[in-house]
Amino acid sequence: MRDKIVAGNWKMNLNFEDAIQLGTNLNAWVADNQPDAQVIISPSSIYLQVLLEAVDEQYVKVASQDISAHDKGAYTGDISGEQLDSIGLDFVIIGHSERREYQGETDAIIAEKLKQAFKNQINPIFCIGEKLEEREADQHFEVVKSQLLNALKSQNTEDLSRLIIAYEPVWAIGTGKTASPEQAQEIHAYIRKVLNDEFGVEIANETSILYGGSVNAQNANDIFSQPDIDGGLVGGASLKYEDFIQIIAACK
Ligand code: PGA
Repeated sequence: MRDKIVAGNWKMNLNFEDAIQLGTNLNAWVADNQPDAQVIISPSSIYLQVLLEAVDEQYVKVASQDISAHDKGAYTGDISGEQLDSIGLDFVIIGHSERREYQGETDAIIAEKLKQAFKNQINPIFCIGEKLEEREADQHFEVVKSQLLNALKSQNTEDLSRLIIAYEPVWAIGTGKTASPEQAQEIHAYIRKVLNDEFGVEIANETSILYGGSVNAQNANDIFSQPDIDGGLVGGASLKYEDFIQIIAACK
């Protein structure tokens, strides 16, 4: 059975104190309530190590928001997979649409970042999703297929057992607009079919595919009840403790 996962992408939010507070509160809630879903939080990189120490990894896992495409060397500001692994980190978000848009990350760069994650035994949450104009032109299936294959074709198939996919339609991120549960299910099933056709039935069945884009405490139940949706990658609502625990509880 593939894992249920709810991951909170904190993006560039929260000061030091607030980040520790939210992390420790979540840890205590998960310890008390034992939800079905694996909970992951993804703070800014300066807080990664302290949050790893503040939470118990059997309850809350910590993810980096990025990883360098390179092994090491003169890449000011980057953090390598080896460095992330050396602090005991097991998860990383790769290819988020905000990094594709503002940092110019291409499928080729994302493929290299995935290689770095796999090489260092870090589980990537690999983000794909179409823009509004692509959805309106009915190109969303094509777009997610090419994002998937451009990044995954060059990986070793055995590494793909670590892969987590997040389908995040760009038009739904931070906009308050969500894909309907049916729209999300349709494309999640399609992603699973592409995985099946290209990498085999085992990878297709075992890969958790998360939905992201304006998930909140009200819509989480309907979204997570779809058969091919294995959880969520949550931005804004993951910053609010009360909302985020409801979202985690909805993932069964
Ligand atoms: P949102 O962000 O939940 O605020 O729409 C999701 C994401 O960007 O991962």
